[in-house]
Amino acid sequence: MAVPVYILRLLVLLLLLPLISISSASTAVNCTKSYNIAGEKRLFSHCVVLGTQEASLAWSLRPAPNGSLDVIFSGVAPSPGGWVGWGINPYRLGMVGTQTFIGFQASNGSTLLTFDVTKGTEDGKAFVCTPISLHVLNMTINIANGNQIAMFVSISWPIPNVDPSSPVINHVWNRGPSVYNFQPSSHGFSGADLSSKIAINMSSGILFYGPPNNLLENAHAILNTVGWGILLPSGVIAARYMKPFVDPAWFYTHITIQILGYILGVAGWATGLSLDNVGARGGNPSKHRNIGFTLFGICTLQMMAIFLRPNKDHKLRKGWNLYHYSLAASILILGIVNIFEGFEIMSPPQKWRDTYIAVLGALGGVAIILEIVTWIYVCRKRRYSQGKIQGATVGGAYQFEKGPVG
Ligand SMILES: *[C@@H]1O[C@H](CO)[C@@H](O)[C@H](O)[C@H]1NC(C)=O
Ligand SMILES: *[C@@H]1O[C@H](CO)[C@@H](O)[C@H](O)[C@H]1NC(C)=O
Ligand SMILES: *[C@@H]1O[C@H](CO)[C@@H](O)[C@H](O)[C@H]1NC(C)=O
Ligand SMILES: *[C@@H]1O[C@H](CO)[C@@H](O)[C@H](O)[C@H]1NC(C)=O
Ligand SMILES: *[C@@H]1O[C@H](CO)[C@@H](O)[C@H](O)[C@H]1NC(C)=O
Repeated sequence: MAVPVYILRLLVLLLLLPLISISSASTAVNCTKSYNIAGEKRLFSHCVVLGTQEASLAWSLRPAPNGSLDVIFSGVAPSPGGWVGWGINPYRLGMVGTQTFIGFQASNGSTLLTFDVTKGTEDGKAFVCTPISLHVLNMTINIANGNQIAMFVSISWPIPNVDPSSPVINHVWNRGPSVYNFQPSSHGFSGADLSSKIAINMSSGILFYGPPNNLLENAHAILNTVGWGILLPSGVIAARYMKPFVDPAWFYTHITIQILGYILGVAGWATGLSLDNVGARGGNPSKHRNIGFTLFGICTLQMMAIFLRPNKDHKLRKGWNLYHYSLAASILILGIVNIFEGFEIMSPPQKWRDTYIAVLGALGGVAIILEIVTWIYVCRKRRYSQGKIQGATVGGAYQFEKGPVG
């Protein structure tokens, strides 16, 4: 039985590739707690990279009485003359209701204006400077290189609708390419632009989604990481490396693992569909979603291929194998890539990412060791049977392994 070995070897290599590219990826946005404001050096107690639009947020909380929330929001406008905006939404994690500060370079100097984002704004009403419900103690803005905008805002603390003992605040930010007559242009509508919001516990500094989606998100993450990201690659390894040793047990092991992986993966995929982008802390939710759909499609094709499998000796079997292996390769790559896309979006503690990288590394390591073992085994076996055939030509009567020659 001719196994296209080069395809299998390619599979093993591809399994390892994402590891290499992922370990070299890193974010370029700076996060600093030290800023110069109006010539005065100020230190802040927290700083987080917000995950989209090259934005970061530093802050300090001075408790009541005479309390204040001092914030530095730094962002990069899409072009010189553009704007960046940041605000607090006391009601929900979304755009409407946000008490916003928008900074830009006006013709008569750099300017920071306040806006109350209403339903009307969302529906396209002109964006004009309005009073906001926060009590602003101080605000100033600094623009570097035409589009790197940092705004300092000091707000009286506590603020309405926020419990000062558990101060989880909804932050919303965005940016746009231009400002005309003190009216900022519309922001972009990419996945990242629409997911530029996050809840933060201002006293612990913990980035926080808000409870409603946590359970579903975790379920989605776990089901898909185990289904697509661990079981499917394990099933490939089982097929590849059990085959020379235990036939046909490898087939049942392979098919059991893959069906289990498929069931978990589809359950996770369905859970993912019910999530919106609200909880996104970073990454690109629409890209993740598109890869997810593609993955579901290819996996389903692969499952259906089982029923169309031609007999071992059928002339179409080679073509079927090629089809099966290339779908498998695409599934493994897309699955692993999308798991890391998911990590970007959920931004869980680093240990989860590290754990998954370690699992992939272990699978890769096992594959490499088994690859070597298999080669040694296969070569030995071949040499052994060649020896036998030679013995037969020299010695005369050669018996086949299965039963004596009649
Ligand atoms: C980040 O910091 C480095 C070194 O301090 C600086 O060269 C770079 O321009 C900074 N990047 C941004 C986006 O501010
Ligand atoms: C709060 O501010 C007021 C006015 O600035 C001042 O009179 C008062 O002493 C301050 N209270 C505290 C506890 O710092
Ligand atoms: C710039 O012009 C606007 C609109 O006329 C005005 O409200 C604002 O105070 C001006 N800013 C400065 C720094 O002169
Ligand atoms: C606003 O902040 C600047 C810089 O920290 C400071 O010099 C100024 O006194 C502040 N103004 C008020 C009213 O607190
Ligand atoms: C926010 O952080 C504070 C201090 O660490 C903690 O007491 C509070 O329970 C946290 N709130 C939430 C909702 O996590």
